[in-house]
Amino acid sequence: MQYREYGKTGKMIAALGFGAMRLPKDEDYAVEIMQRYLELGGNLIDTARAYGESERIVGRAIQGRREQVYISTKNHGVQQSPDIWKQYMDQSLETLAVDRIDFYHVHDLRWDVYAEHFRKKGGPFDMVQQAQDEGLIDHLCFSSHDSPENIIKLIDEGIFDGILVQYNMLDRIPGEGGHGAGTGNEPAIAHAAEKGLGVLIMGPLAGGRLTQMPPDRVEKLLPGKVKSIADLGLRFVLANPDVTSPLSGMNELQQVDENCATASRQEPLTEQENAQIRAAVQANEKLAELYCTGCNYCQPCPQGVAIPKIFEAMNYHRLWGLTEHAKGLYRQLGPDNKEGLMDATACVECGECEEKCPQNLPIIQQLKESHEALASP
Ligand SMILES: NC(=O)c1ccc[n+]([C@@H]2O[C@H](COP(=O)([O-])OP(=O)(O)OC[C@H]3O[C@@H](n4cnc5c(N)ncnc54)[C@H](OP(=O)(O)O)[C@@H]3O)[C@@H](O)[C@H]2O)c1
Ligand code: SF4
Ligand code: SF4
Repeated sequence: MQYREYGKTGKMIAALGFGAMRLPKDEDYAVEIMQRYLELGGNLIDTARAYGESERIVGRAIQGRREQVYISTKNHGVQQSPDIWKQYMDQSLETLAVDRIDFYHVHDLRWDVYAEHFRKKGGPFDMVQQAQDEGLIDHLCFSSHDSPENIIKLIDEGIFDGILVQYNMLDRIPGEGGHGAGTGNEPAIAHAAEKGLGVLIMGPLAGGRLTQMPPDRVEKLLPGKVKSIADLGLRFVLANPDVTSPLSGMNELQQVDENCATASRQEPLTEQENAQIRAAVQANEKLAELYCTGCNYCQPCPQGVAIPKIFEAMNYHRLWGLTEHAKGLYRQLGPDNKEGLMDATACVECGECEEKCPQNLPIIQQLKESHEALASP
């Protein structure tokens, strides 16, 4: 296993963290795979109070091994009072059966909530200092899906020791696949490293979407050198020297073995391989922009047609071969959609959207093509 220093904390973290957000249903097996991860040199498990039974099961997995592992968990009471915030923290400590949390994250922090509530007098931050003084929290960190610009503002507040953000080779554009996702977060990651913060990555395999890519598409990214897409996706993230550790959601022993082997390589990607894969990713990005940049200028459509979402799904299908994922996204649209987002069949061809599209896309025609490609089961 390779290790990297978490910011300026002096703590050496495995180049692969265990993400315990979606654990296997069989609890004993979940414990077994976390313990295998620790046996292979892993030393960071990430959970959250909001992940159902996860903290309790992590607590079981680390029993008798506490000194071997750093625990990261999260408090989602960001809009609550200091007392509730403290209550959540005490519950995490109890459920995990530990007396200290190494990396304590403000869960899903946004700049506006930070400024308007978290940091204000009477907000949860009032409790943080006390918890640190009592030795209950080692490092205050935050996870965020906010824009890279806002993540940078949060870093500059100077109260956090680390960040947890999305970063992967699939979602290039900030906002795609979750706000501030993908490589769009690179400026925030670089800024965090420059300021001496640790950087953990959520969704390094795009939440498993990357692993659905057909082998021929994967092979095109780095011809002759791809062991598996999981290997390539993790190496892509690790090739960024500003990243401390990607948190991988692993559901099988074999995934743990494979991903730990990847994180044990001396050099994640050579400079040439990195350039090659970036060029392939950028070529796809350029093609994606030819189809739709996701700028939203065509919205709202008077019929509620979710044009950018439909074209985003179409890009997953057309550019990455992620057809099942694309069909799943498309199926969420239509009369049953809670936000009123309609699929392509709702289009009455009024032409309003085409007048507003800066790319001059033949939207009406492309909607028909998208429906044809994505509507079948
Ligand atoms: N703070 C936040 O808001 C937040 C949000 C999201 C995530 N996180 C953290 O980040 C962690 C990782 O997120 P994630 O689970 O979305 O990310 P991920 O690691 O990108 O995706 C996990 C999926 O990748 C697949 N996978 C992993 N290794 C594989 C391998 N060797 N071969 C084939 N498939 C493999 C598995 O898919 P299958 O299930 O299909 O096997 C697994 O479910 C979470 O567990 C959590 O700790 C935090
Ligand atoms: S042409 Fe179709 S998609 Fe475009 S605005 Fe009119 S109804 Fe909506
Ligand atoms: S205006 Fe054009 S490029 Fe922008 S989201 Fe709509 S279709 Fe896509």
